[in-house]
Amino acid sequence: MIQAEFVISAVSESGFPQEGIPEVVFAGRSNVGKSSLINRLAGNEKLARTSSTPGKTQSINFYRLNGSFFFVDLPGYGYAKAAKTAVQQWKRLIERYFQSRSAIVLAIQIVDSRMPPTESDLQLSEWLERLKIPYMLVATKADKLSSNQQHAQGRVISNSFGGQSVVMSSAKTGTGYKEIWKRVLQATAVESSRNNH
Ligand code: GTP
Ligand code: MG
Repeated sequence: MIQAEFVISAVSESGFPQEGIPEVVFAGRSNVGKSSLINRLAGNEKLARTSSTPGKTQSINFYRLNGSFFFVDLPGYGYAKAAKTAVQQWKRLIERYFQSRSAIVLAIQIVDSRMPPTESDLQLSEWLERLKIPYMLVATKADKLSSNQQHAQGRVISNSFGGQSVVMSSAKTGTGYKEIWKRVLQATAVESSRNNH
């Protein structure tokens, strides 16, 4: 049984929680399914708000899992209807987030399994690499593809990210969740034991 609780919704750095527990952050384009992935991993459909309308999550939301690490839900990028000033604010907030949180142990970069990655997707992965933040690539909505298509799209996505491995996932069927949890637990456990020494 996983225990998950909402901690805080931050619109600026001053709202970020002070606890130094490990953080797993979920990042990706608007509407790819970041909040749905968090809910499914946490086993609670009502934890993070999801919506078929892009741009649902507009602040940085922190959830505490099993009292020992955070899941961090970022607002999505590439939301077509967003005003220019909102996009700039978003960029600043996300930049501050990644630069100020030394407890980030894993970034889960989420793309849509049905689409080729965008320029912003590739920029995000380059950015994570530059900041030396370990990341895993997850392609959501795999339930909308046949297994042949999943293999083909997996290759397309992996190639776009320079051969990085990609986990196909579905919030509907639970595909890929075991593997994602495994990475999450590895990343957060290493950090916890380091803190204990
Ligand atoms: P923003 O907060 O706007 O950035 O979006 P988000 O990335 O958090 O997406 P969200 O989880 O709100 O999901 C967007 C839409 O996609 C919702 O209608 C979800 O039900 C749907 N969705 C998410 N994951 C899956 C999936 O694995 N399969 C299917 N079929 N639909 C999904
Ligand atoms: Mg969301």
